[in-house]
Amino acid sequence: MCGIVGYLGSREAYPILIKGLHRLEYRGYDSAGIALINKSLELSVYKTKGKVEDLENYVSGKDVGGTIGIAHTRWATHGEPNSQNAHPHYSQSGRLALIHNGIIENYKVIKEELISKGYTFSSDTDTEVLIQLIEYMQISHNTNLFDAVQLALKNVIGAYAIAIIDKSNPNQLIAARKGSPLIIGVGDKETEFLIGSDATPIVEYTNKVIYLEEEEIAIMHRDGSITVKNLSNVEQTPIIKTLEMNLSQLEKANFPHFMLKEIFEQPEALRTSMLGRLNMESKTVRLSGIIDHRDKFLKANRIIICACGTSWHAGLIGKYIIEELTRIPVEVEYSSEFRYRNPVIKSNDIVIAISQSGETADTLAAIKLAKENGAFIYGICNVVGSSIARAADTGSYLHVGPEIGVASTKAFTAQVTTLTLIALNIAEEKKTLSKERTAELVEELQRIPEKINETLQMNTRIKLYSQIFTYAKNFIYLGRGYNYPVALEGALKLKEISYIHAEGYPAAEMKHGPIALIDEEMPVVVIAPKRGMYEKVLSNIQEVKARKGKIISIVTKGDTTVKELSDFCLEIPDTEECFVPILSVVPLQLLSYHIAIAKGRNVDQPRNLAKSVTVE
Ligand code: M6R
Repeated sequence: MCGIVGYLGSREAYPILIKGLHRLEYRGYDSAGIALINKSLELSVYKTKGKVEDLENYVSGKDVGGTIGIAHTRWATHGEPNSQNAHPHYSQSGRLALIHNGIIENYKVIKEELISKGYTFSSDTDTEVLIQLIEYMQISHNTNLFDAVQLALKNVIGAYAIAIIDKSNPNQLIAARKGSPLIIGVGDKETEFLIGSDATPIVEYTNKVIYLEEEEIAIMHRDGSITVKNLSNVEQTPIIKTLEMNLSQLEKANFPHFMLKEIFEQPEALRTSMLGRLNMESKTVRLSGIIDHRDKFLKANRIIICACGTSWHAGLIGKYIIEELTRIPVEVEYSSEFRYRNPVIKSNDIVIAISQSGETADTLAAIKLAKENGAFIYGICNVVGSSIARAADTGSYLHVGPEIGVASTKAFTAQVTTLTLIALNIAEEKKTLSKERTAELVEELQRIPEKINETLQMNTRIKLYSQIFTYAKNFIYLGRGYNYPVALEGALKLKEISYIHAEGYPAAEMKHGPIALIDEEMPVVVIAPKRGMYEKVLSNIQEVKARKGKIISIVTKGDTTVKELSDFCLEIPDTEECFVPILSVVPLQLLSYHIAIAKGRNVDQPRNLAKSVTVE
């Protein structure tokens, strides 16, 4: 949540910071701000409600000079989105400016104490409390800024990624983190530093990065030196890593939106995701995360999948396939529920944490809890070096490149594919699947990218259908077995980008309540492939038809029975039952995209949402 970018070097900071904010805007976009120190040692802070574009308009004609600066794009947690609450925030003296991601949980207590000491506040944010506390520590302990930051952070409870500049010392940039990620880019020009809440604002300038660890504070100097210490003042050796990202992955290419680009990237993304993991000679699957910990998987009593949102839907499909192929019982948990109850976790449990961003606070907390209770943690993340990937004992990256659209698409199909690989690999180790059947599944899995390509050819038709449904206030999505989670995912996609209310249901549950909603106005999307419980779904379609619901069906190519019952029908290629979700979700992604566009929504930046939820 929220985007952080900072710069210290020899170039003008403003263009670098603004470009960085544009790249980070997918993380939050209700207000934005920038702070710069110019040659005359003046600290200018500009901030405004709205998007980065609004900030650019606001600063137009103003002094934006300076070779050091910090900037922020916000997703509000404390205080409504307005210019007072936007970051950066000043200290009382106007000397320090700070940007912050995360939440300072004990900010009210600290604020009251600072007010009693004569401090005044101009915003409702927890962030302003932090910068005032840092200044208070510096004055009351008569110390330097680095030590003051350290002292202040020892007194706060919560999560933070912060960056601070000081107009009395324009040659240093200070950054710290706990619970929220922060990356330092070591510029190619050696004496240049960039910071980012993720790598997107950094990659254009350098691929050398330092991932700041929990409770570490870094001080970067204009001469190119950097010191990193933890909160206990122990010096740490920063490890420089190479970024696995390129600039073209952050551009929309010829697509109008990142979401559409990412939907169309799926065939290639899945090929890359499976690369080196499918062995087409032996027709087997090899995941180092499983092979290196073979015993854990052989002894596993149970697998618990923890995730949120779309990743949770992928987890549900994972349960079906892992149980089917390996016979290991699987439970799927919302991380936010799991972490706050008192779950039974045993040392022979394996927890699979699924997170595109690898930063979702609840999932991170869930795996910490599981780890404390002795479970073995397998992470499935997309963002390399993310907090969840680092907290896990082992895992698999998705390798689908950055996902910028807030609505997750290619990460979902890659998560399902990765869970399939996990299931196949464990099944082989446990010998729960014959060699012949494994070979059949592996061969079919390799054909899936091409079948997605085929499915994508329906884009124009889906666009036409979408115009018809802009009237709808509600949608129902139905599926059974492997396609029940797809129904949930289709409904979530529609809700988040078109703001149309939608419900996903197991088709058979409809008659236990939701059927009351069906009338001639209600679009009902039914996933009805020839595989699985086809006949049963057919009956469910009849039930909708009898109540005059508008049926949009997803069927196996060549199926005429469901087609005749449907108002609109979309055909997907035939595949193994367990792989259908990877194909059936694609028309649903396109449907929600085109309905949202037809309704004039901003699909890449839907209201109230942000790409990664790094707060509880
Ligand atoms: O980064 P994560 O996969 O942990 O994110 C989980 C959810 O926040 C995410 O899937 C969210 O539901 C998406 N907006 C769905 O499109």
